[in-house]
Amino acid sequence: MGQDAPYRILDKLPPQREKIETIKILRKVNKATAALAELKGIANTIPNQSMLVNAIVLKEAKGSSEIENIITTQDELYKALTVNTSNSSPETKEVINYRKAIFLGFDLIKKQGFLRVNDIIDIQQELIGNKAGIRSMPGTVLKNDATGEIVYTPPQDKEEILDLLSNFIEYFNQDKNEISPLVNLAVLHHQFESIHPFYDGNGRTGRILNILYLILNDLIDFPILYLSSFLIENKPDYYRLLNQTNQLGEWEEWIIFMLKSVETTSIQTIEKISAIRQLLDKTIEKVQIDAPKIYKKEFVELLFEQPYSKIEFVVNQLKVERKAASRYLKELEKIGILESQKVGRETLYINTKLIEILK
Ligand SMILES: Nc1ncnc2c1ncn2[C@@H]1O[C@H](COP(=O)(O)OP(=O)(O)O)[C@@H](O)[C@H]1O
Ligand SMILES: [Mg+2]
Repeated sequence: MGQDAPYRILDKLPPQREKIETIKILRKVNKATAALAELKGIANTIPNQSMLVNAIVLKEAKGSSEIENIITTQDELYKALTVNTSNSSPETKEVINYRKAIFLGFDLIKKQGFLRVNDIIDIQQELIGNKAGIRSMPGTVLKNDATGEIVYTPPQDKEEILDLLSNFIEYFNQDKNEISPLVNLAVLHHQFESIHPFYDGNGRTGRILNILYLILNDLIDFPILYLSSFLIENKPDYYRLLNQTNQLGEWEEWIIFMLKSVETTSIQTIEKISAIRQLLDKTIEKVQIDAPKIYKKEFVELLFEQPYSKIEFVVNQLKVERKAASRYLKELEKIGILESQKVGRETLYINTKLIEILK
């Protein structure tokens, strides 16, 4: 396709059923559905859900941003969340905003049981931090990063974008849909990226919608699937298939790809959760044996909810004096559970074994 690639009008949802429910797709749906169901079950056995949610949401935020070449480190992120550093890098701030945007969407889904187009706009705003909203000026095109060639031209007219978005959201919220939600997930993600309603943040907003769609359909209870890891590892295919489906109107390969991403990341997340669980049990045991006087279940759980901890967190969680909180943390450092690090005036206590698992 050259500079003046013809603009192909985007079809509304749903696509023809034969195209999105082939035998190959249905077989893969079963596998992905089973993996995701296992993840949902295992996640529910973790005593304190926010331990998982915090960690995985942050990973998803980091990974999804990385797809867009917004790169930061786990260490920087946790520091930014723990001490109020105004001097975090712009990339770190963007990832922190991404995290907020996921939680905003999660709260909306829980509260309303559906999403509105305006909610999508709010989520994108939280992420990007400006009020530009839906594109109203023409000129947005998708280019091949390496060659600069235009690979896809999304709809340019604001009315058309809004019309496609209301079709999108209607399909998103439909609850008596006979197609598997995992197939719909792939269809919806493709459609959202093809509408490309914003000047920026379309990829990230679309990937937040993926997680929210799974929650809306009760496939997971919390935003604990780290889907973006698969997309980072397979970014060339991710972009190629988005584009190919646009050009050919053939869905099979794209849907299989997305089903594979659900299956693979479910299995990986299950492994992470088991590792976290084991570490939690081992940590509890160690504190009970080596520092029995300060053992409290909530204290250990805090160190998993906030792998970068500080005195103030302990004060708030355990309702103890600063002096006691400081002593508790130091004690755990002594028995090798935490490692301290000075950041500015604050001393952070890091649950390094957990951080290692989360890497
Ligand atoms: N050919 C294509 N057709 C449709 N969507 C595409 C295509 N190529 C890439 N994309 C999507 O566009 C996203 C990038 O859009 P952008 O608005 O810059 O989002 P972000 O700022 O989150 O990166 C990619 O992550 C991908 O989801
Ligand atoms: Mg971008």
